[in-house]
Amino acid sequence: MPKMTFIERDGTPKEVEAPLGLSVLEIAHKNGVDIEGACEGSLACSTCHVVVEPDWYGKLVDATEDEEDMLDLAFDLQETSRLGCQIIITEELDGLVVRLPAGTRNAGG
Ligand code: FES
Repeated sequence: MPKMTFIERDGTPKEVEAPLGLSVLEIAHKNGVDIEGACEGSLACSTCHVVVEPDWYGKLVDATEDEEDMLDLAFDLQETSRLGCQIIITEELDGLVVRLPAGTRNAGG
């Protein structure tokens, strides 16, 4: 079973199982990782935004124009930002690392 790691907003890495064919959003939900995903993968929100570790970014299938448009609306957009519902786990992505963006909360309170 492939694995992937979410880096939580406080910097804690959380390694979870990443079944082939599931999206990063679905995996987050299965494991209680705090990514909203309001439209459940239909590219109508940007609440599933994750920041991919640079080493992994190049291994992902390129974002479609629709994804890019939605990402433009995301808070804390980074160069390696993607929508979690659009990243589908393949064998190649075993070990993928993504970070949760800052969100709308104040860092550290
Ligand atoms: S869940 Fe809405 S675009 Fe990903």
